Amino acid sequence: MPEIRELIQEGKGKRVYATDDPDLAVVYYKDEAMAFHGLKRGRIIGKGEVNNAICEHLFTLLREHGVENHFVRQLDARQSLVLRCEMMPFAVKVRNRVAGSMHVRTRLPVGMKLDEPVLEFTLKDTDMEQDALVNHTHLYAMKAATPQELEEIRRVSRQINAILSEYMREINIELIDFKVEFGRYKGKILLADEISPDTARFWDSKTHEPLDIDRFRRDLGDVAEAYQEVLHRMMGTGF
Ligand SMILES: Nc1ncnc2c1ncn2[C@@H]1O[C@H](COP(=O)(O)OP(=O)(O)O)[C@@H](O)[C@H]1O
Ligand SMILES: [Mg+2]
Repeated sequence: MPEIRELIQEGKGKRVYATDDPDLAVVYYKDEAMAFHGLKRGRIIGKGEVNNAICEHLFTLLREHGVENHFVRQLDARQSLVLRCEMMPFAVKVRNRVAGSMHVRTRLPVGMKLDEPVLEFTLKDTDMEQDALVNHTHLYAMKAATPQELEEIRRVSRQINAILSEYMREINIELIDFKVEFGRYKGKILLADEISPDTARFWDSKTHEPLDIDRFRRDLGDVAEAYQEVLHRMMGTGF
């Protein structure tokens, strides 16, 4: 059992602690929710436990399909042990249908199915009100990644999309979009951070009702219940 040491990062959804092993960190999943870049704040009771369980599930599924990632094991209901990464300063968004900021930017209708997945890079830790959308040449200028690394990140992001889309389809959830973050660990680039209803759009396949953070953003009600529902459907599968 690793010994938990100092807090190294605190964000919207998680706290990350160092451990007595420099290669390992502990992620603590919080109930706090934030939307519109901090303008709206609240609590979704039980979210931390649900997201911890969903992340264990999805990271294990991805590993079984060959996507290396930071997940080591769950420690308790709200905490998991992960490989401690040096996080890359950008996130990758993968979109299968138009929603959120893509609707605002392109004026394409919300819900429009995209012929090809759309990939976006956004900078983390900016004080801008909107996500800072950048392209690959910005990331080269920032020396955030090399062309080879970015190619690998694009390939893995598409692979994650294919694996998760197929898996979610089986449990009657459509993967509309999601965000992933990558980190460096011992010379490798690993999928890290989280994949949960906080960072993805999950729509019920039949009704197109959102089962994710959009319920909180748009005051649709039954937010905690929707997160629970996603986990229940996952637990109902053989995997
Ligand atoms: N394996 C890891 N090693 C180190 N830091 C990590 C790891 N996984 C995620 N993080 C970082 O933990 C921080 C807290 O996460 P989160 O609360 O989601 O932050 P944010 O407010 O940026 O969404 C983020 O900066 C994220 O990049
Ligand atoms: Mg986050």
